[in-house]
Amino acid sequence: MKTIFEPFRIKVVEPIRLTTREERVDLLRRAHWNLFAIHADDVIIDLLTDSGTSAMSAEQWAAVMRGDESYAGSPSYYRFESAVRELMPFKHVIPTHQGRAAEAILFSIVGGPGRMVPSNTHFDTTRGNIEATGAQAVDLVIAEAHDPASTHPFKGNMDIARLEALLEASAERVPLVMITITNNAGGGQPVSLENVRAVADIAHRHGKPLFIDGCRFAENAWFVKCREPGQASRAVTEIVRDLFAAADGMTMSAKKDAFANIGGWLAVNDDALAAAARNRLILTEGFPTYGGLAGRDLEAIAVGLHEIVDEQYLRYRVRTNEYIGEKLTALGVPIVLPVGGHAVFVDARRFLPHIPPLQYPGQALAVALYEYGGIRACEIGTVMFGLRPDGTEAPADADLVRLAMPRRVYTQSHADYLVEVFEEVVKRRGELRGFRIVWQPPQLRHFTARFEPVA
Ligand code: F0G
Repeated sequence: MKTIFEPFRIKVVEPIRLTTREERVDLLRRAHWNLFAIHADDVIIDLLTDSGTSAMSAEQWAAVMRGDESYAGSPSYYRFESAVRELMPFKHVIPTHQGRAAEAILFSIVGGPGRMVPSNTHFDTTRGNIEATGAQAVDLVIAEAHDPASTHPFKGNMDIARLEALLEASAERVPLVMITITNNAGGGQPVSLENVRAVADIAHRHGKPLFIDGCRFAENAWFVKCREPGQASRAVTEIVRDLFAAADGMTMSAKKDAFANIGGWLAVNDDALAAAARNRLILTEGFPTYGGLAGRDLEAIAVGLHEIVDEQYLRYRVRTNEYIGEKLTALGVPIVLPVGGHAVFVDARRFLPHIPPLQYPGQALAVALYEYGGIRACEIGTVMFGLRPDGTEAPADADLVRLAMPRRVYTQSHADYLVEVFEEVVKRRGELRGFRIVWQPPQLRHFTARFEPVA
């Protein structure tokens, strides 16, 4: 079948307000060209993130009604715990209000000055939570990950030799080894099962636990099934269990591969670590059987975890992004290859070579997508990473624009519309201008900076 078949029917709809280009030019000016300042109902297709933006199923909404809001020992917690442990058989499952809360709890215990935490690539909040304790976050992804044109099937893999070298040199500083599946910061690229097992072996040989940041575990398992020799005939659920069986713990944002609008967890095998984490949880999140969530959220996650490993869904999910990627490539728009599980990453620096990195080609492209089509995407480049702690600026490694796909929200005709908007932007490419920042906060400037087009 050539058609990308959305494996669901639509029961509830959210109308999309169609704006005109004139309106959007005005809205951009009023938002100081920062897309985070645009109201969501002025957006036609919102590709800012795939996090917390999933459409819940009828079964999830039904489960929401079953949510039990008891302070302690809610049956909703036990349904949540058993859904997690069916896929990720860790001994202790500690619910949190989202992924970064799990990270904050974990690193408040194992982090600290002088410590070092290696990963393939830490997501920003993971890095932030590690660094906030005075520890160092180290990225050891394979070299192919840095080449947007490389079609390596597992560009999220950890560089085993560098991990080995780091542990040989400084094992005493490393409390745990981490691996992010899929590697969001690297373009949503998967990690092979073989690589997860090799990383676990090295970590364990040095007496270190392996933790998986499992946000997009189902997409990762689907890529393993499709791309890893010997995995094609295996069920995604079996692959998921194998990935987590290699690890000693995990952090999770249920806002991604659990189809929930909020939620997360920390899971560990170590009893002492679990006890310390629960103590911390009570201070910052809540009692261990709800941890910052309502019972109804725990129910939605439990059902979402059953649905996310559906192979019809995963085929549609990954195919939609590939389809957009193929169409953009045909238009001559450079993208990060292969297309990732949750997003298409456009290489704005190569697309707009006339705009220097310090005039933010990623921002220029993201603004143009909004102006010409009401599409909201996210700059991942010099705006996000270019400001140094001393207040000076340097170009980021790359200037990308992420088109992140909310789960089960948009259809193939929305994808075709997105491609049409790109067609228009390709025609205007030479007219696009860079930006200057006229106001910014000292940190995380991309959320609130104010821009002005360069004349
Ligand atoms: N780890 C990864 C790999 C993530 O992508 C995210 C969130 C987190 C941890 C933190 O989870 O948001 O629930 O606290 N990523 C979102 C994004 C925000 O847009 O990529 P959270």
